Amino acid sequence: MEKVEISAPGKLMLFGEHAVVYGSPCIVTAVDQRIRVSVIADSGQSLEIEAPDVGLSGCLLEIDSLKNNNDLPKGARFVATAVGNFFDGFGIRSGLKIKTQSDFSSEFGFGSSSAVTVGVIKALSELFDVKLKDQELFNLSYKTVLDVQGVGSGFDLAAAIWGGTLWFIGGGKTVLPLKIEEVPIVVGYTGIKADTSALVRQVAGTKKEHPEAITKIFEAIALGVQEAKNALEKGNWPRVGELMNINQGLLEALGVNTRELSSLIHACREAGAFGAKLSGAGGGDCMIALIDNQIKVKVGEAITDAGGRVLRVKLGAEGVRDESNR
Ligand code: PMV
Repeated sequence: MEKVEISAPGKLMLFGEHAVVYGSPCIVTAVDQRIRVSVIADSGQSLEIEAPDVGLSGCLLEIDSLKNNNDLPKGARFVATAVGNFFDGFGIRSGLKIKTQSDFSSEFGFGSSSAVTVGVIKALSELFDVKLKDQELFNLSYKTVLDVQGVGSGFDLAAAIWGGTLWFIGGGKTVLPLKIEEVPIVVGYTGIKADTSALVRQVAGTKKEHPEAITKIFEAIALGVQEAKNALEKGNWPRVGELMNINQGLLEALGVNTRELSSLIHACREAGAFGAKLSGAGGGDCMIALIDNQIKVKVGEAITDAGGRVLRVKLGAEGVRDESNR
């Protein structure tokens, strides 16, 4: 039986989180840490999932039970819903064995669920010979993410599909690859797993209470994202750093910053970084600092001394790709 193997990269948000959920642009980059998905079709009636990174082994699901199923095991939701949506969309039905394996912990906030979703749909399209353009792969993946978690801009799916560093507008309305040099960044992990959906809902609640103020904050974030695009394209790192600090201040105003993130961010700034901010929904996960490469070690030590962990990643990695030897 034919086996397809696909890999897709994780991501880091550089600028524009939260505002992107309300139609503003963001800048996201793919990282060189990948999720691998292998899929085999068989003549059975079930989907078997092995996902050791999320503690799932020998998980057996009926093919007919994959959609709108609230009882799916947590680690199986994105895989199962992706398969259900693909089969529905293209009138296909088959038994499947799916294995996922990650270069990175799902705790880091690198977008493992999105990379898995993209990997599964891409693998199925190869296996069943369905030609999917990148935008179609995005649309089906985005439907899957909304089915599972109800909220999200889809920026992480875009990074998994197109790779590189992208200018992205919510729902995939615009996906523009940016031409930029390698961005000298250090990534610090707080050790705390963030709940992205809960934070997006929290910001929605704050916006309901203070619609004008929050709308103005989103507008200010969007202005910064536009300036950051220009500064990134020129490789003007001091300016990009300043814009990171401004973006961080606005995220603090949205209420998604934490003491732990702040402590890593301030440690990096004190160690000489051009700027630093949280990356993603806030509440934990990672922060990023833009640096002159000469002080990389010093900034890394500052993160460790402040209680964080340095994650070594390269930015602008390649998007989803077929790894099968066929
Ligand atoms: O927590 P992360 O790394 O998945 O980032 C979430 C970014 C948000 O803008 C808050 C949500 C979204 O889907 O764009």
